[in-house]
Amino acid sequence: MLRIPQLLLLPPLLLLTSAQELSCSSSGSDPCSVPSPGGLFVFRQRFEPDTGGDYGSWGIDGLEVLDCTSQKTHNSTSYAPTYTHEQIGSYCLKSPLFGGEKGYNDAEGEWAQSEVGEGVEEVWERTWNTAGRFVSTFDAKCQKKKAGAGAGVAEFFITLSKLQKTFTTAHLLSDADITPSDDTTYSLRELTNALSTGSYKPIVQCDNSTLSSVLWPLNVRGPFQSGSFEAASSFDRKSNCPSEGIIYPPRTTLATPKKSDDDEEWEHLRRPPPRPITLSHDETRMYYRSETAKEDPVGKLGLRKEHDEERDEWKEERAGKQYWRDEL
Ligand SMILES: *[C@@H]1O[C@H](CO)[C@@H](O)[C@H](O)[C@H]1NC(C)=O
Ligand SMILES: *[C@@H]1O[C@H](CO)[C@@H](O)[C@H](O)[C@H]1NC(C)=O
Repeated sequence: MLRIPQLLLLPPLLLLTSAQELSCSSSGSDPCSVPSPGGLFVFRQRFEPDTGGDYGSWGIDGLEVLDCTSQKTHNSTSYAPTYTHEQIGSYCLKSPLFGGEKGYNDAEGEWAQSEVGEGVEEVWERTWNTAGRFVSTFDAKCQKKKAGAGAGVAEFFITLSKLQKTFTTAHLLSDADITPSDDTTYSLRELTNALSTGSYKPIVQCDNSTLSSVLWPLNVRGPFQSGSFEAASSFDRKSNCPSEGIIYPPRTTLATPKKSDDDEEWEHLRRPPPRPITLSHDETRMYYRSETAKEDPVGKLGLRKEHDEERDEWKEERAGKQYWRDEL
Protein backbone atom coordinates (compact mmCIF):
# COMPACT_ATOMS: atom_id res chain seq x y z
CA MET A 1 0.00 0.00 0.00
CA LEU A 2 1.26 3.44 -0.81
CA ARG A 3 0.63 5.57 2.22
CA ILE A 4 3.00 8.40 1.50
CA PRO A 5 3.93 11.86 1.98
CA GLN A 6 0.94 13.34 0.30
CA LEU A 7 1.78 16.63 1.87
CA LEU A 8 5.19 16.65 0.32
CA LEU A 9 4.32 14.92 -2.90
CA LEU A 10 1.95 17.69 -3.80
CA PRO A 11 4.19 20.62 -4.55
CA PRO A 12 2.44 23.97 -4.39
CA LEU A 13 3.53 24.97 -7.88
CA LEU A 14 4.07 22.02 -10.10
CA LEU A 15 5.70 23.92 -12.93
CA LEU A 16 8.13 25.69 -10.69
CA THR A 17 8.94 22.55 -8.77
CA SER A 18 9.59 20.35 -11.76
CA ALA A 19 12.34 22.76 -12.76
CA GLN A 20 13.93 22.60 -9.33
CA GLU A 21 17.04 20.67 -8.70
CA LEU A 22 17.31 17.75 -6.29
CA SER A 23 19.89 18.13 -3.54
CA CYS A 24 22.98 15.94 -3.97
CA SER A 25 22.27 15.48 -7.70
CA SER A 26 25.24 17.63 -8.75
CA SER A 27 28.22 19.19 -7.06
CA GLY A 28 27.82 22.67 -8.53
CA SER A 29 24.34 23.50 -7.20
CA ASP A 30 23.39 27.05 -6.29
CA PRO A 31 23.36 27.00 -2.46
CA CYS A 32 20.37 29.35 -2.42
CA SER A 33 18.24 27.11 -4.67
CA VAL A 34 19.00 23.79 -3.04
CA PRO A 35 20.94 22.81 0.11
CA SER A 36 24.54 22.47 -1.02
CA PRO A 37 26.86 21.35 0.38
CA GLY A 38 24.98 19.30 2.93
CA GLY A 39 22.07 18.06 0.83
CA LEU A 40 21.51 14.68 2.46
CA PHE A 41 19.14 14.65 5.43
CA VAL A 42 18.27 11.98 7.94
CA PHE A 43 14.96 12.53 9.68
CA ARG A 44 14.95 10.50 12.90
CA GLN A 45 11.94 9.32 14.88
CA ARG A 46 12.19 7.58 18.24
CA PHE A 47 9.72 5.22 19.92
CA GLU A 48 8.56 5.95 23.47
CA PRO A 49 6.45 3.10 24.85
CA ASP A 50 5.24 5.11 27.84
CA THR A 51 4.17 8.28 26.06
CA GLY A 52 0.78 8.92 24.48
CA GLY A 53 -1.90 6.22 24.37
CA ASP A 54 -1.70 2.48 24.92
CA TYR A 55 0.48 2.00 21.86
CA GLY A 56 3.19 4.46 22.79
CA SER A 57 4.33 7.18 20.48
CA TRP A 58 6.81 7.81 17.67
CA GLY A 59 8.16 11.32 18.18
CA ILE A 60 10.74 13.38 16.33
CA ASP A 61 14.23 12.58 17.57
CA GLY A 62 16.10 14.99 15.32
CA LEU A 63 17.55 15.75 11.93
CA GLU A 64 21.03 15.12 10.56
CA VAL A 65 22.47 17.30 7.81
CA LEU A 66 25.05 15.25 5.94
CA ASP A 67 27.57 15.85 3.21
CA CYS A 68 26.32 14.19 0.01
CA THR A 69 29.44 12.17 -0.75
CA SER A 70 31.15 11.52 2.59
CA GLN A 71 27.74 11.13 4.32
CA LYS A 72 29.36 12.68 7.40
CA THR A 73 27.83 15.48 9.45
CA HIS A 74 27.99 18.67 7.39
CA ASN A 75 29.01 21.21 10.01
CA SER A 76 32.07 22.95 8.62
CA THR A 77 30.23 25.97 7.15
CA SER A 78 27.32 27.52 8.98
CA TYR A 79 24.84 29.76 7.20
CA ALA A 80 23.02 31.23 10.18
CA PRO A 81 23.91 32.11 13.79
CA THR A 82 23.42 29.93 16.85
CA TYR A 83 20.45 30.88 18.97
CA THR A 84 19.33 30.20 22.54
CA HIS A 85 16.11 28.36 23.18
CA GLU A 86 14.49 31.60 24.36
CA GLN A 87 15.29 33.20 21.00
CA ILE A 88 14.11 30.14 19.07
CA GLY A 89 10.82 30.08 20.99
CA SER A 90 10.27 33.76 20.37
CA TYR A 91 11.00 33.53 16.60
CA CYS A 92 8.59 30.63 16.27
CA LEU A 93 5.85 32.28 18.30
CA LYS A 94 6.14 35.46 16.24
CA SER A 95 6.10 33.62 12.92
CA PRO A 96 2.76 33.24 11.14
CA LEU A 97 3.89 29.72 10.19
CA PHE A 98 2.91 28.31 13.59
CA GLY A 99 -0.27 30.35 13.80
CA GLY A 100 0.34 31.27 17.45
CA GLU A 101 0.88 29.48 20.71
CA LYS A 102 -1.37 26.50 20.05
CA GLY A 103 0.42 25.65 16.83
CA TYR A 104 3.78 26.06 18.53
CA ASN A 105 2.76 23.79 21.44
CA ASP A 106 1.42 21.21 18.99
CA ALA A 107 4.72 21.22 17.14
CA GLU A 108 6.66 20.80 20.39
CA GLY A 109 4.41 17.90 21.35
CA GLU A 110 5.49 16.02 18.23
CA TRP A 111 9.03 15.62 19.59
CA ALA A 112 10.23 12.63 21.60
CA GLN A 113 11.26 13.50 25.12
CA SER A 114 14.96 14.00 25.59
CA GLU A 115 16.81 10.97 26.87
CA VAL A 116 19.08 13.14 28.98
CA GLY A 117 16.27 15.06 30.62
CA GLU A 118 16.43 18.30 28.61
CA GLY A 119 13.19 20.13 27.94
CA VAL A 120 11.93 20.17 24.37
CA GLU A 121 13.08 23.82 24.11
CA GLU A 122 16.66 22.73 24.75
CA VAL A 123 16.28 19.92 22.22
CA TRP A 124 15.14 22.49 19.63
CA GLU A 125 18.09 24.70 20.53
CA ARG A 126 20.48 21.81 20.00
CA THR A 127 18.78 20.80 16.75
CA TRP A 128 19.00 24.31 15.31
CA ASN A 129 22.58 24.80 16.43
CA THR A 130 23.86 21.44 15.16
CA ALA A 131 21.65 20.96 12.08
CA GLY A 132 19.34 23.81 11.02
CA ARG A 133 21.98 26.51 10.72
CA PHE A 134 24.06 24.27 8.42
CA VAL A 135 21.35 24.22 5.73
CA SER A 136 22.58 26.57 2.99
CA THR A 137 19.13 27.76 1.90
CA PHE A 138 18.76 29.49 5.31
CA ASP A 139 21.65 31.83 4.48
CA ALA A 140 20.49 35.44 4.99
CA LYS A 141 21.91 36.34 1.60
CA CYS A 142 19.47 33.91 -0.05
CA GLN A 143 16.45 35.79 1.30
CA LYS A 144 14.77 38.15 -1.13
CA LYS A 145 13.80 40.69 1.48
CA LYS A 146 16.34 41.79 4.02
CA ALA A 147 16.18 39.01 6.59
CA GLY A 148 15.71 39.95 10.23
CA ALA A 149 17.17 38.05 13.18
CA GLY A 150 16.00 34.48 13.40
CA ALA A 151 15.41 34.06 9.67
CA GLY A 152 14.96 30.37 8.87
CA VAL A 153 14.26 29.17 12.41
CA ALA A 154 10.47 28.91 12.16
CA GLU A 155 10.77 27.56 8.59
CA PHE A 156 13.14 24.85 9.79
CA PHE A 157 10.93 23.60 12.64
CA ILE A 158 7.69 23.77 10.67
CA THR A 159 9.34 21.65 7.97
CA LEU A 160 10.28 19.03 10.57
CA SER A 161 6.68 19.06 11.74
CA LYS A 162 5.53 18.39 8.16
CA LEU A 163 7.95 15.49 7.89
CA GLN A 164 6.61 14.07 11.14
CA LYS A 165 3.06 14.15 9.76
CA THR A 166 4.29 12.55 6.55
CA PHE A 167 6.07 9.57 8.05
CA THR A 168 3.26 7.84 9.94
CA THR A 169 5.45 5.15 11.42
CA ALA A 170 2.98 3.82 14.02
CA HIS A 171 0.29 3.41 11.38
CA LEU A 172 2.59 1.88 8.80
CA LEU A 173 3.63 -0.72 11.36
CA SER A 174 0.12 -1.43 12.62
CA ASP A 175 -1.15 -1.79 9.04
CA ALA A 176 1.29 -4.69 8.83
CA ASP A 177 -0.01 -6.02 12.18
CA ILE A 178 3.13 -4.94 13.98
CA THR A 179 2.19 -3.51 17.36
CA PRO A 180 3.95 -3.20 20.73
CA SER A 181 3.81 -6.60 22.37
CA ASP A 182 5.35 -8.46 25.27
CA ASP A 183 5.01 -11.88 23.70
CA THR A 184 5.70 -11.35 20.00
CA THR A 185 8.97 -10.37 18.40
CA TYR A 186 9.55 -9.23 14.84
CA SER A 187 12.20 -9.75 12.21
CA LEU A 188 14.17 -6.88 10.73
CA ARG A 189 12.75 -7.76 7.33
CA GLU A 190 9.16 -7.53 8.62
CA LEU A 191 9.79 -4.12 10.15
CA THR A 192 11.64 -2.75 7.14
CA ASN A 193 9.03 -4.05 4.69
CA ALA A 194 6.21 -2.53 6.72
CA LEU A 195 7.89 0.89 6.64
CA SER A 196 9.06 0.84 3.02
CA THR A 197 6.62 2.67 0.78
CA GLY A 198 7.38 3.73 -2.76
CA SER A 199 11.10 4.38 -2.94
CA TYR A 200 11.39 5.05 0.79
CA LYS A 201 13.56 2.48 2.54
CA PRO A 202 13.99 3.63 6.13
CA ILE A 203 16.64 2.22 8.43
CA VAL A 204 15.40 0.70 11.66
CA GLN A 205 17.59 1.11 14.76
CA CYS A 206 17.64 -0.92 17.96
CA ASP A 207 18.98 -0.71 21.50
CA ASN A 208 20.31 -4.22 21.74
CA SER A 209 17.30 -6.09 20.41
CA THR A 210 14.66 -3.52 21.31
CA LEU A 211 13.27 -1.37 18.48
CA SER A 212 14.19 2.22 19.25
CA SER A 213 14.20 4.48 16.20
CA VAL A 214 13.65 4.85 12.48
CA LEU A 215 15.84 6.87 10.12
CA TRP A 216 14.39 8.34 6.92
CA PRO A 217 17.18 9.38 4.51
CA LEU A 218 16.02 12.24 2.30
CA ASN A 219 17.01 14.65 -0.43
CA VAL A 220 15.06 17.79 -1.12
CA ARG A 221 13.98 19.24 -4.46
CA GLY A 222 14.40 22.98 -4.00
CA PRO A 223 15.12 24.92 -0.80
CA PHE A 224 14.80 23.04 2.49
CA GLN A 225 11.99 25.33 3.65
CA SER A 226 9.81 25.09 0.54
CA GLY A 227 11.03 22.13 -1.49
CA SER A 228 9.58 18.66 -1.69
CA PHE A 229 11.40 15.83 0.02
CA GLU A 230 12.22 12.58 -1.73
CA ALA A 231 13.78 9.33 -0.61
CA ALA A 232 17.57 9.68 -0.76
CA SER A 233 18.99 7.73 -3.67
CA SER A 234 21.99 6.63 -1.67
CA PHE A 235 22.54 6.20 2.05
CA ASP A 236 25.09 3.81 3.46
CA ARG A 237 24.12 3.36 7.09
CA LYS A 238 23.04 -0.15 8.09
CA SER A 239 20.55 -1.18 10.70
CA ASN A 240 22.11 -2.26 13.99
CA CYS A 241 19.16 -4.52 14.82
CA PRO A 242 19.43 -8.29 14.94
CA SER A 243 17.75 -9.98 11.97
CA GLU A 244 15.26 -11.83 14.17
CA GLY A 245 13.70 -11.47 17.61
CA ILE A 246 13.26 -7.69 17.68
CA ILE A 247 11.17 -6.46 20.59
CA TYR A 248 8.62 -3.66 19.98
CA PRO A 249 8.14 -2.86 23.65
CA PRO A 250 4.69 -2.34 25.15
CA ARG A 251 3.99 0.15 27.94
CA THR A 252 5.77 -0.58 31.15
CA THR A 253 3.55 1.74 33.20
CA LEU A 254 -0.16 2.21 33.54
CA ALA A 255 -1.72 4.97 31.51
CA THR A 256 -2.49 8.08 33.56
CA PRO A 257 -6.07 7.57 34.79
CA LYS A 258 -8.63 10.03 33.48
CA LYS A 259 -9.39 12.67 36.08
CA SER A 260 -12.83 12.54 37.60
CA ASP A 261 -14.07 12.86 41.19
CA ASP A 262 -15.12 9.20 41.35
CA ASP A 263 -11.65 8.15 40.42
CA GLU A 264 -9.97 10.02 43.22
CA GLU A 265 -10.11 7.24 45.82
CA TRP A 266 -8.92 4.62 43.37
CA GLU A 267 -6.01 6.61 42.17
CA HIS A 268 -3.56 5.42 44.80
CA LEU A 269 -4.34 1.83 43.85
CA ARG A 270 -3.65 2.38 40.19
CA ARG A 271 -0.58 4.45 40.63
CA PRO A 272 2.53 2.46 39.80
CA PRO A 273 5.35 2.45 42.34
CA PRO A 274 7.45 5.63 42.23
CA ARG A 275 10.53 3.60 41.34
CA PRO A 276 12.03 3.02 37.93
CA ILE A 277 10.57 -0.07 36.34
CA THR A 278 12.77 -2.24 34.21
CA LEU A 279 11.74 -4.57 31.45
CA SER A 280 12.83 -8.03 32.43
CA HIS A 281 13.86 -8.91 28.89
CA ASP A 282 16.11 -5.90 28.49
CA GLU A 283 17.70 -4.66 31.66
CA THR A 284 19.57 -1.91 29.88
CA ARG A 285 16.57 0.31 29.40
CA MET A 286 14.67 1.88 32.24
CA TYR A 287 11.27 3.42 32.01
CA TYR A 288 9.81 5.99 34.30
CA ARG A 289 6.23 6.88 34.69
CA SER A 290 5.67 10.09 32.79
CA GLU A 291 5.07 13.00 35.13
CA THR A 292 4.71 15.54 32.37
CA ALA A 293 0.95 15.82 32.53
CA LYS A 294 1.27 17.38 35.97
CA GLU A 295 3.75 20.00 34.88
CA ASP A 296 2.00 20.85 31.67
CA PRO A 297 0.59 24.30 31.31
CA VAL A 298 -3.13 24.42 30.65
CA GLY A 299 -2.60 24.75 26.93
CA LYS A 300 -0.72 21.50 26.78
CA LEU A 301 -3.33 19.65 28.82
CA GLY A 302 -5.89 20.57 26.21
CA LEU A 303 -3.56 19.30 23.59
CA ARG A 304 -3.00 16.03 25.38
CA LYS A 305 -6.72 15.45 25.70
CA GLU A 306 -7.19 15.95 22.00
CA HIS A 307 -4.34 13.57 21.36
CA ASP A 308 -5.88 10.96 23.67
CA GLU A 309 -9.19 11.26 21.88
CA GLU A 310 -7.45 10.67 18.61
CA ARG A 311 -5.82 7.63 20.13
CA ASP A 312 -9.16 6.36 21.38
CA GLU A 313 -10.63 6.64 17.93
CA TRP A 314 -7.70 4.77 16.55
CA LYS A 315 -8.12 2.07 19.20
CA GLU A 316 -11.76 1.69 18.29
CA GLU A 317 -10.77 1.36 14.70
CA ARG A 318 -8.30 -1.34 15.66
CA ALA A 319 -10.84 -3.12 17.82
CA GLY A 320 -13.21 -3.10 14.85
CA LYS A 321 -10.51 -4.51 12.70
CA GLN A 322 -9.79 -7.33 15.10
CA TYR A 323 -13.43 -8.20 15.42
CA TRP A 324 -13.70 -8.38 11.70
CA ARG A 325 -10.71 -10.65 11.54
CA ASP A 326 -12.15 -12.96 14.21
CA GLU A 327 -15.26 -13.34 12.16
CA LEU A 328 -13.38 -14.61 9.18
C1 LIG B 1 30.67 18.26 13.66
O1 LIG B 1 30.09 16.97 13.75
C2 LIG B 1 30.92 15.99 14.34
C3 LIG B 1 30.21 14.67 14.22
O2 LIG B 1 28.90 14.72 14.74
C4 LIG B 1 31.19 16.40 15.79
O3 LIG B 1 32.01 15.45 16.40
C5 LIG B 1 31.85 17.77 15.82
O4 LIG B 1 32.01 18.19 17.14
C6 LIG B 1 31.01 18.78 15.05
N1 LIG B 1 31.72 20.05 14.95
C7 LIG B 1 31.12 21.21 15.18
C8 LIG B 1 31.96 22.43 14.95
O5 LIG B 1 29.96 21.29 15.57
C1 LIG C 1 23.33 -4.71 25.37
O1 LIG C 1 23.83 -3.43 25.68
C2 LIG C 1 24.79 -3.41 26.69
C3 LIG C 1 25.12 -1.97 27.02
O2 LIG C 1 24.88 -1.13 25.95
C4 LIG C 1 26.01 -4.20 26.25
O3 LIG C 1 27.00 -4.21 27.28
C5 LIG C 1 25.59 -5.62 25.94
O4 LIG C 1 26.68 -6.35 25.45
C6 LIG C 1 24.46 -5.62 24.94
N1 LIG C 1 23.95 -6.95 24.78
C7 LIG C 1 23.88 -7.54 23.60
C8 LIG C 1 23.30 -8.91 23.60
O5 LIG C 1 24.23 -6.99 22.58
